[in-house]
Amino acid sequence: MKHQIAGRMPLAANTAKGLAVPRFAAKIKPCITALFTTAPNRRSTLIERVVMFKIAAALFAVTATLAASAAFAQAKPEDAIAYRQGAFKIIGWNFGPMAGMVQGRIPYDKDGFAKRAANVAAVAAMPFEGFGPGTDAGAPTKAKAEVWSKSADFKAKADKMVEETTKLAAIAKTGSLDDIKKQFGATGATCKACHDDYRNK
Ligand code: HEC
Repeated sequence: MKHQIAGRMPLAANTAKGLAVPRFAAKIKPCITALFTTAPNRRSTLIERVVMFKIAAALFAVTATLAASAAFAQAKPEDAIAYRQGAFKIIGWNFGPMAGMVQGRIPYDKDGFAKRAANVAAVAAMPFEGFGPGTDAGAPTKAKAEVWSKSADFKAKADKMVEETTKLAAIAKTGSLDDIKKQFGATGATCKACHDDYRNK
C-alpha cells in the first residue's frame, strides 16, 4: 500500500500541480490505513451486534414473560370474582354432603366422606387469590368492603379455615366417627366466623 502510493508519486510529481499529489497522498494515507485497520473492527462489531441482538432477544423474552405474569396478577376484577366464587362452590359442593353425613341426614360413608374432606383441603386456600386489590366490585359479589379494609383479620380467618380443613382431611381417613364429627364442627365454625363478618347474606 505504502509502496503503491510511493510508486505513483513520481508520476504525479511530473504534473504541474505535482506537489499537491504527494500532499494528497499523505493526507489520504492515514484514511486508507484506517480503513484497513478498522476493517477487522467492523467485522467484530458485526459479531458484537449479533451477540447483542441475541441478548436483546433473550431479554425481550424474559420481559415478555414478566409482563405476562404481571398481566396475570392483574386479572380483570370480574374474572377474579368468578374465580373465588367458583373455588367456594367447589368447597360448598363437597362440604354439603359431609354435613349431611355428620348430621345423619344421609348415610355415613367413610371413604366418600374422606374423599370430600380431601377435596376441600386441596381447594381451601384457592379462593383467597381472588380477593386482590380492586376486586371489591366489577361483578355481583357478596364480599363485604371489610375484606379489604380489615385484610389482616380476613387473612387470619382464611388461614384458620385452611388449617382446620387440613386436619379434617387427615382425621377423616383414620379417626373415629366421633372425632370426625368434632373436627367437622371445628371446620364449619371457621367458615361461619368469616361469613358472619365478611360475606353479605
Ligand atoms: C376468610 C373468609 C372465608 C372463609 C374462611 C370461608 N369463606 Fe366462604 N365466602 C367468603 C366470601 C367473602 C364469600 C363471597 C364471595 C363473593 O361473592 O365474591 C364466600 C362465599 C362462599 C360461598 C358461595 C359461593 C358462590 O358464589 O356461589 C360458599 C358456598 C362458601 N363461601 C362456602 C364456604 C365454606 C364451606 C367454607 C368453610 C369450609 C368457607 N366458605 C370459608 C369468605 C370465606
